[in-house]
Amino acid sequence: MNPSHQPPLQHIAFIMDGNGRWAKARKLMRTEGHKEGVKRVFDIAQHAFDHWNIPYVTLYAFSTENWTRPRYEIDVIFRLLRTYLRQKKSILLRNKIRFQTIGDLSKLPRSAQEIVQEVHQETAAFSEHTLTVALNYGSREEILHAIRSLSPEECHQLTWESLAQHLYTHSIPDPDLIVRTSGEQRLSNFLLLQAAYSELYFTPTYWPDFKEASLDQAIEDYLHRTRRFGNIEPCSSND
Ligand code: FPP
Repeated sequence: MNPSHQPPLQHIAFIMDGNGRWAKARKLMRTEGHKEGVKRVFDIAQHAFDHWNIPYVTLYAFSTENWTRPRYEIDVIFRLLRTYLRQKKSILLRNKIRFQTIGDLSKLPRSAQEIVQEVHQETAAFSEHTLTVALNYGSREEILHAIRSLSPEECHQLTWESLAQHLYTHSIPDPDLIVRTSGEQRLSNFLLLQAAYSELYFTPTYWPDFKEASLDQAIEDYLHRTRRFGNIEPCSSND
């Protein structure tokens, strides 16, 4: 199961990319790609939680740069988010999945903010599984937000650990593996500091086609890698 005996996979993050191209390839509107893409979200998260026993799953859903998209597309994305959360709230509660977001929610449509807060509050006590969705998230904005919130004392004795406590991700570990779909090979302002030692996996598969078997392939690939964290010996959970 874990041939390289590396630390267990605690946190997997996804840059869900290729919804638009998936739709274009089928001569559909881009928004049809988002509609199909949102269907993958729960299946992939559930497979990571249940089959692979990964406690933290994070999804990059809307970046600080995505506001430049056509208004109609933005409206569809937030409508899909609202519908998704309304539909899945009972399953999140039943399966004891903590739902949370990273990013500045204040710019989101009011109705999206309300359902996000509602599901967040109702699932806040769960600890076994955490589903984090990045909404109006950008790493540079996150870093500025963290620095601005530091007290003068904290500024003077700043360590990585104390800065990390001010990041949106303060309650979750750094990602072990970041998966980006659609063939693009970059991080696009996603978890830049937290990804310092993350393994990166790029697949040409568009997000709407990324199924459980695709996740299995990504994780199998990860399990055969050797993580050294700057050391000369592989770091192992058995060390
Ligand atoms: C990337 O494809 C996808 C997005 C920017 C939006 C994804 C968000 C959702 C489907 C709704 C979020 C809902 C939940 C529950 C997490 P793209 O449009 O950039 O594709 P392209 O690069 O092919 O144009």
